[in-house]
Amino acid sequence: MCGIFGSAARRDVADLIVRGLRHLEYRGYDSAGVAVVDGGDLKVVRREGRIDRLAEAVVSTGLHGSTGIGHTRWATHGESTERNAHPHRDGSGNLAVIHNGIIENHEVLRERLVGRGHAFSSETDSEVLPHLIEEHLKDQDLLGAVCSTVPELIGTFAFVVIDRTRPGVLVGARRDSPLVVGIGDGENYLASDVAALLEVTRDVVYLENGEVVELTPDSVRVIGPDGRERPAVAERVEWDAEATAKGGYRHFMAKEIDEQPAAVAKTLKRHVDAADERFLVPGLAPIADFLRSVQRVTIVACGTSWHAGLVGKFLIEERAGVPVEVDYASEFRYRDPILADRHLVVAISQSGETLDTLAAVRDARARGAKLLSIVNVQGSSLTRESDAVLLTDAGPEIGVASTKAFTTQLLVLQLLSLGLARLRDRRSVEETRAAVDGLRRVRAKMEECLEARDEVARAAERYARASDFLFLGRGVNYPIALEGALKLKEISYVHAEGYPAGEMKHGPIALIDRSLPVVVIATPGRVYEKAISNMQEVKARGGRILAVAAADDAAVAKLAETVLPVPVVDDSLSPLINVLPLQLLSYWIADLRGCDIDKPRNLAKSVTVE
Ligand code: G6P
Repeated sequence: MCGIFGSAARRDVADLIVRGLRHLEYRGYDSAGVAVVDGGDLKVVRREGRIDRLAEAVVSTGLHGSTGIGHTRWATHGESTERNAHPHRDGSGNLAVIHNGIIENHEVLRERLVGRGHAFSSETDSEVLPHLIEEHLKDQDLLGAVCSTVPELIGTFAFVVIDRTRPGVLVGARRDSPLVVGIGDGENYLASDVAALLEVTRDVVYLENGEVVELTPDSVRVIGPDGRERPAVAERVEWDAEATAKGGYRHFMAKEIDEQPAAVAKTLKRHVDAADERFLVPGLAPIADFLRSVQRVTIVACGTSWHAGLVGKFLIEERAGVPVEVDYASEFRYRDPILADRHLVVAISQSGETLDTLAAVRDARARGAKLLSIVNVQGSSLTRESDAVLLTDAGPEIGVASTKAFTTQLLVLQLLSLGLARLRDRRSVEETRAAVDGLRRVRAKMEECLEARDEVARAAERYARASDFLFLGRGVNYPIALEGALKLKEISYVHAEGYPAGEMKHGPIALIDRSLPVVVIATPGRVYEKAISNMQEVKARGGRILAVAAADDAAVAKLAETVLPVPVVDDSLSPLINVLPLQLLSYWIADLRGCDIDKPRNLAKSVTVE
């Protein structure tokens, strides 16, 4: 939510900032703006709408400067107008500030500042920042002024300020919203995420909560909440710039769907190659003793990651015999959850920055739980706050609708359930080895499944105009039904509901008529016959059935109007396969409906506000 990019350099940075913002556009695309210090001038260009409009304006206004900041906005306070676009200025006209997050006490601060003669020009919470910094600048330098501003703020933020009178200096701060420093050669950068920096550097310094940073082209100073400076030690990022390019695809989502077999194989390799002969994956080692006698597991996550958690529940309970609850992070944090002695909390997050998830796990840790995280972004807040981390190797996921992050999360949950089962002596080494061999074969099955993409595209043509969909699945594929419905809602704006198939008779069955496409997951496994019965019930009421099923399944062929064919795998692995045609279906339907697939309306990929 909201993307931030800034640079202090010795060359013109306006274009660099616009390029950085393009990588961050998934975080919001309501409005965008750039400010640069040029000689003794501070120039600001802002536009409502997408980065393309800003890019044109940057060129047409001839914006140049070697110190600059840029912002892409996901509106919270105030509509998405140019007036509310960042950067915001102070009264003196010297400062420009970009902000991601919510300043919860902005009204009190604003009132106080207005009382002191400050005039505001936007409806945003963010505009208090330049005015507050301006106040503190009366007796301090820019770094000191930001350090004094931070304790006055309630809420979440990452912000960066530049000052017309201090060319070559950027000062940033963060609390609960991400901000990463990029280290270049004679130039340095600040950005909301690592992916935005890859074009310019792979050496980064992750800022901790409450830290303030001052950048010049040659120096990085990091000041902690206690006012002490700490060494800014750079870490090397594994990802490279190529991974953030579209690579000939029309949409990132299509590319990311196709990348899944390789991403899943890479994730498996990362963990299994390094596992010991007992199949203890290294990521679990820091909490291995705890896991041996863990009493309960609670999985917390949001969105698609929450669906992965539901599959995880199924696998962990079945294999490791530990009771598992799956909670929406946003609900968990506002309940009084009962945490048992030896309670493991598993957080699942692509970004590692989702605010609700971070807040939930902080709460759980404060109550004594151990925290294991499944995260895609190395160095993200979640990875740094966990007792143990299992990384997914999806690489940068740019499309707002999650695809490859989801399947790599499913793969890691497979390994977690097997690892827990080993640690608790519920499975032999041989059984585990056989299961891991099964996981090794998943890549080829996923590739085979994606070969049917044209068939799914043809099916999409048949259903693209439907206004409602029902998705049904049972057992380990119930979460896949939810995920299929979510994908369709997110990117094609078609109403869709996911339901456990057995629950259909308790309500959704009333919706079924000749116009309602019902997607049923009916692959071989424990609940296959039940799924067939559910299809009979739909058919008897005239519903149009699209079945995710084995290509040669005669029973399904008799009942379904359309079959989305998938290769047959073991039931426990089937979510990794069955989700693929559903991702493709939503992709093609969204495309046929002319939707903006990679940047669906109102959504942002990394939700760093409540
Ligand atoms: C947003 C995204 C979803 C994502 C969810 C959780 O809503 O649009 O695709 O599943 O956040 O994000 P996380 O990074 O925590 O997995």
